[in-house]
Amino acid sequence: MNILAIESSCDETSAAVLANGQLLSNVIATQLIHEQYGGVVPELASRAHQQHILPVVERALADANIPKSDLSAIAFTRGPGLLGSLLVGTSFAKAMALGLQIPLIEVNHMQAHVLAHFIDEPGTSRTKPTFPFLCLTVSGGHTQIVRIDSPLEMTVIGQTQDDAVGEAFDKSAKLLGLPYPGGPLIDKYAKEGNPLAYRFPMSEMPELNFSFSGIKTAILYFLRDHTKTNPNFIAQNLSDICASIQHTLIQMLLKKVKRAAQETGIRQITVAGGVSANSSLRASLTKLGDELGWQVYIPRFEYCTDNAAMIAMAAKFKYDQGDFTAQDVSPLPRMSF
Ligand code: KG4
Ligand code: ZN
Repeated sequence: MNILAIESSCDETSAAVLANGQLLSNVIATQLIHEQYGGVVPELASRAHQQHILPVVERALADANIPKSDLSAIAFTRGPGLLGSLLVGTSFAKAMALGLQIPLIEVNHMQAHVLAHFIDEPGTSRTKPTFPFLCLTVSGGHTQIVRIDSPLEMTVIGQTQDDAVGEAFDKSAKLLGLPYPGGPLIDKYAKEGNPLAYRFPMSEMPELNFSFSGIKTAILYFLRDHTKTNPNFIAQNLSDICASIQHTLIQMLLKKVKRAAQETGIRQITVAGGVSANSSLRASLTKLGDELGWQVYIPRFEYCTDNAAMIAMAAKFKYDQGDFTAQDVSPLPRMSF
């Protein structure tokens, strides 16, 4: 069973091939054009997907050494994401499935982030979470705590009421004058800094929900006040500022994960999505898990940010259940679970 999967929900054009449950290729073309605008420009993203999609798919098939004629199904991200971006991947997948006369499989991008934990490459086998487990799903557009009862049975039990944590990383970085996406840069500078150098307020939200819009304003005022007396404040203290912002965001996340584990009694804890690439979040979650007796699972670095390997993995579970999609499907920018 050979699945070709396509991911085009935001600013990464990616294609992957999964053969009999093993990942054979995962090609990702990152769109650098957005850097100069300080964020993803939807119109430019769609155009770049249009340019990249054919070479990326051809490369994924070549790397896997699987001819088109041997494919069993084509999977694609139906949502959530940017409409223009999703349309490129959706239309391409539909056309290819129609041309090859093989099934089409739609995938929910956020479910796929969770299922990245099940990706196996030839010759490797990682320990996988067992059901039920919890997943802290943290990306540029989402911040959720999800309860997973089986590969395709997921329930969101907590989520952000405003900004996503990835957005909080990116917007904070922008205030510091760093280019988009700022999350990885905050991570990099924070390594040299003191996480307790500055304190930022942590929002209190009921139940398992989050709020990240307040911290952005707090950082804005903090920087404005300090640069008034010292115009070089940011440059002189960049590492400490990054470490302190990162520490605050991670503490806000971990507090709710701890509560979710207590309330559900589930001790299998996982993390997924672009922000799970953050080195300090990975280390802090592992440490908390050791203290509280959890089994913590962290996806390999390359499967944290957007990629088609996770789309292929989710598609495999659907293929096994015969869950296929009709040709009249259209993308869902606000697709929920
Ligand atoms: O999952 P993803 O690739 O795309 C979305 O579906 O949104 O997540 C992208 C987000 C961006 O906000 C980016 O800044 C953040 O993940 N990110 C990080 C790190 N690497 C990516 N945030 C903090 N530390 C990182 N190392
Ligand atoms: Zn994502």
